[in-house]
Formats: sequence, C-alpha cells, structure tokens
Amino acid sequence: MNQNVIISRNIAADITAAVSAITPDRVFVLTDQTTLECCWPRLCDVACLSAAQMITIPPTDAAKTLDSLTHVWAAMQDGGATRHSLLINIGGGMVTDLGGFAASTFKRGMAYVNVPTTLLSMVDASVGGKTGINFRGLKNEIGVFNTPHTVILDTQFLRTLDTENIRSGYAEMLKHGLISDEQTLAELLRFDLENVDFTALADMVARSVAVKQRIVTEDPHEHGIRKALNLGHTVGHAFESFALAQNRPILHGYAVAYGLIPELYLAATRCGFPTQCLHQVEAFVRDNYGHFSFGCKHYDSLIDLMRHDKKNTAGTINFTLLAAVGDIRINQTATPDDIREALDYYREN
Ligand code: GLY
Repeated sequence: MNQNVIISRNIAADITAAVSAITPDRVFVLTDQTTLECCWPRLCDVACLSAAQMITIPPTDAAKTLDSLTHVWAAMQDGGATRHSLLINIGGGMVTDLGGFAASTFKRGMAYVNVPTTLLSMVDASVGGKTGINFRGLKNEIGVFNTPHTVILDTQFLRTLDTENIRSGYAEMLKHGLISDEQTLAELLRFDLENVDFTALADMVARSVAVKQRIVTEDPHEHGIRKALNLGHTVGHAFESFALAQNRPILHGYAVAYGLIPELYLAATRCGFPTQCLHQVEAFVRDNYGHFSFGCKHYDSLIDLMRHDKKNTAGTINFTLLAAVGDIRINQTATPDDIREALDYYREN
C-alpha cells in the first residue's frame, strides 16, 4: 500500500492539488481549539478550504473519546457529508487519529487527508493509517487501519510548538534512529533540544518520516516488520495509561522516551544490545525528559496494563527488542519477573 506523504514547500498548492485529485462533493475540516488558534490562520485563505465546513473538538489526548467522535460524525451528517466527501484533519496525533477513524467509518468510509501540525503527528501518527480513539482508560483501543489519501507535512508548523511538544515528537524520532543505523542515532543524540535549530530539525524530520513510510509501506497491517515501530511502546503505553489513571497525564512521546530505557535494558540482557548505547540513550532521556516516578508497589498494575496491549497474543507480553542499533528483533516475549527487573533498572538508574 503506497503511503502518499508530501514534504511540503507550498502548503496551499499541495492541499489544493490533493483536493483536486479527490474531487469530493463536500470538504470538511477537522481541527482542535489550539490548532484553530495557532495554525488555521496560515490556511484559512486557501481557496478550497474557505468553503469547507469546520468541525472543532477540544485539544489534547483527553478529547480522543467516543463523545468527540460522535460530535464529528454528527457534524458530518448535519453538513450533508456523503461517501464522496473529504475530511481534512489538521492538527496533532489526536486529531489525525480520531479524524481518520471518523472518516473511515462514516458511511462505511470516505477519503481523508492529514495535515499534521505537531512533531509527533508528522513523524508518526499522521502516517501509516492507524486510526482510533481511547476507550475505558486504554489508549487507541478502538480503531481501524486505513491509509489517508495524502499526508501533507509542512515543518513551518513546528515553530508554533512549545518545548514539551517538540520533545514528545522527538522521542519517536529517537526510536526511528534506534531501528535505523548508528550514524542517524548519533546525530539524534547530539541534537540540542534546549536551543532547537529548526532548519536542521526539518531535514531530520523528513528523514525520520521516510523511515516510518518505508516500514508501513512494506507491512501496513503490522503482521511483521511494522512491529519495529513499537520499540519503547509496550512499557511506554503502560506508563502513559498509568499516569493518566493517576491524574498526572504525560505526553505520549515522554512515555515512549521513558519506556525505551527498560526495553533497551531487556534488549541488552536478552539480545546482546550494547550497554554503552543503552547508557547513551538513557543519559539523553534523563537530560531531556526527566524521570517518571513510580514504586515497586505499582509493578503489578503496570504489568497488567502491558497485558492489555494490542501487540499481544493471549497470555504473553510482546516486545520489539534490538540486538544492536538497526538489528530488530520482533515478537520477543518477557516474563513478569523479567519485566520487574527492567523496571527496577529504570528506577535505580
Ligand atoms: N506508531 C506506530 C505505528 O504506526 O505502527
């Protein structure tokens, strides 16, 4: 399945070309309140968008709910959307995931285009066709695979982001580096996230999204190599859900950055991943993301959350590990005792 991702130098022209290629009967734009304020002013004059029907939902992952989804479906129904209409999702991962799911299910599916405006969405969420919402405390529990018609990626939007959102997306770039090669990883570990060089970052984003694009084109439904993209996510998703349940939500990329450390520890102890590299990634994560605090009394809850992960087959907890940078080992399992040891390592280092 081809993933049509455009690194845009002229967003108006690229959106116009995508809409012309689809020839929809109606155009709907989904965005969230924050994106509406920060990013929509750059787009509202694009002719094919000025007549679009706007749908706005609240910002942040807390809005990735069935209620928001119902709001989008209702707005499209009230606006006369048909199977031949188009939904353009403009925003971060929450908007592109939820909007992708709304479009994929409305009248059994209409086309959608993603215009990611956050780093996380550019390098990960908007590409590859994973759509969905959170449900009963579990992340992305309900959803479908359905590739967007086009993803239009304009790195100028990165300048609207706060430092936490840059760091959040950067964690996925770090993951792409780990599954790629040592040179890419070294460049990522050298990058100064305190004083972001946006020109250099734009170039790194294009290369990072190409890593994801190559993998999801080869394995769109995650039967094999796409599982490489789950590095850091088995523990990361558990941290994210645990933090949410404790009323101290953390951004997705922070959870992934923290999750990389126990997972690379498992990689080191089980697959021979070099400990020197584990320590380098660990130092970068500590310096740029701080520490996620939890106690050993929380291990059972965390392991329970890992058991709910979509990557598992019954009774196992599945990990993607590495034998070295770029040397990917999918379908690895670990026992609760192995996981406890990895969580001990995280807390003690
Ligand atoms: N975020 C991982 C994937 O798209 O497969």
